[in-house]
Amino acid sequence: MRTTRKVSVWPVGLVGGRRYERPIVEKGKVVGWYTGWRAGRPFAIDMAGFAVNLQVILSNPKAVFRRHGSQPGMQESDFLRQITTMEELEPKANNCTKVLVWHTRTEKVNLANEPKYHADSVKIEV
Ligand SMILES: *[C@@H]1O[C@H](CO)[C@@H](O)[C@H](O)[C@H]1NC(C)=O
Repeated sequence: MRTTRKVSVWPVGLVGGRRYERPIVEKGKVVGWYTGWRAGRPFAIDMAGFAVNLQVILSNPKAVFRRHGSQPGMQESDFLRQITTMEELEPKANNCTKVLVWHTRTEKVNLANEPKYHADSVKIEV
């Protein structure tokens, strides 16, 4: 997180009805999203899955992370598209192959969107 130049991203455990969601990385660049929920989102990532360098916030004074008014699941995309592009994202956590943060709740984990067969290209411990 500390080495974030603009906007960095990483996998999040126990979110979206899956063991994890993650940015899919090829040749060091984010090219898509491994998710089981609203996969068409421009940035299909939980708010626990990215960091923004303060300089980016200061140079985009009109950018807002809306508390109300975003479609369900679109808060992150609505915010991130004001300040970055997919091409610019900096993958962390070993090119997004490690889960180092979890979207925990004091309830039983929901895995309703977990694929029946292993659909990801990497094996990740959660
Ligand atoms: C991430 O992938 C890029 C491109 O394949 C590679 O150069 C880099 O060393 C990788 N980073 C890590 C931390 O594995």
